[in-house]
Amino acid sequence: MQGTPSDVLRHAEGYLGRHGIESPRRTAEVLLAFVLGTDRASLYSRRDGLSAAEAELFRRAVYRRCAGTPVQHLTGRQAFRHLDLEVRPGVFIPRPETEVVVGAALDELDQATGGLPVVIDVGTGTGAIALSVKRERPGALVHATDLSPDAVRLARANALRLGLDVAVHQGDLLDPLPIDLRGRVSVIVSNPPYLDRGDYAELRPEVRADPELALVGGTAVHGRLVERAPEWLGPGGSLVMEIGAEQGPDVTALLHGNFATVQVVADLSGRDRVVLGRLPERPGA
Ligand SMILES: C[S@@+](CC[C@H](N)C(=O)[O-])C[C@H]1O[C@@H](n2cnc3c(N)ncnc32)[C@H](O)[C@@H]1O
Repeated sequence: MQGTPSDVLRHAEGYLGRHGIESPRRTAEVLLAFVLGTDRASLYSRRDGLSAAEAELFRRAVYRRCAGTPVQHLTGRQAFRHLDLEVRPGVFIPRPETEVVVGAALDELDQATGGLPVVIDVGTGTGAIALSVKRERPGALVHATDLSPDAVRLARANALRLGLDVAVHQGDLLDPLPIDLRGRVSVIVSNPPYLDRGDYAELRPEVRADPELALVGGTAVHGRLVERAPEWLGPGGSLVMEIGAEQGPDVTALLHGNFATVQVVADLSGRDRVVLGRLPERPGA
C-alpha cells in the first residue's frame, strides 16, 4: 500500500512546483481525483493509501504534465461555464476567458427583437460557446462551424453526450451554414484564432499543444468575419468576437462603417477581451 492521498499530494505538489508547473497543488489534486475516479473535495476524506496501480497511474500523469502535456489532455475533460466538456488532442482546449464572450453573446441575444433567436458560433472547437448558448438559452436555434474535421467530430460528440441540439457544420467561417439562415441570424459569436505568428513560437508547451489553426491568425479572421457577417445577420443583429488584449483598437476600426454600435468589453481582470458590433434595426438608420 502506498501513501494516503494527503501524503501523495504533498510530494506531487513539490515535484510539479520544482518543474515550473503553475498551480502545482491544484494540478496534483485534479490529476489524483481523475486517477481515483473521485472529485477534489473527496480526496481528503479518504484514509486508505493508494494501491500500487493507482500510485503508478498518478506518477505517470505527473511526469507527463511536467513534460508539457496539458492537464486537460490527461483527464480528457474541461469545465466551461455550466458544462463538462470532453477535450481531445488536436482540438483547442476552451479557456476561462472565453466564458466572458458567451456572456456578451447572451446579453446581445436577450436584447434581440424579431422572431426565433438564431445564434451561430464560428470556429466552435469543442463546441464550448455554441453548447453553452444552447444550455443557457434553450429556446435559441444554434448552429456552429469549424474548418477542422477533428473539431467538428468532437463538438458533435459533446452535443450528443450533453443532450444539446446544436447543428455543427464543417467548413470556412459562415460558408457551410444552411442558406435559409441568411439575413435571419440574431448573433454571430466567435473566438477566432488571433495570435500573431511571431508569438506562437514563444508559447509554453501546453499552449502549443493546441493546433496552430486554432491559435494563429492575428486580426485577419476578425476582418473576414466583419466582411461576411452582415449578409447573415438580421436587422439589429450582433457580431461578438473574442480579441487579444491589445487588439481592441484594430478590431473596432474594422467594424466602424458597417455596424451602428461598436463596443469593447473587458474580462474580469480588466483586459479588453470582446469586441461587439450591432447592425442598425433598419437598413440605413
Ligand atoms: C481559438 S479556437 C476557439 C475554439 C472554441 N470556440 C473555444 O472558444 O474554445 C479557434 C477555432 O477556430 C477554428 N478555425 C480556424 N480558422 C477557421 C475558419 N476559417 N473557419 C472556421 N473555423 C476556423 C479552429 O479550428 C478552432 O477550432
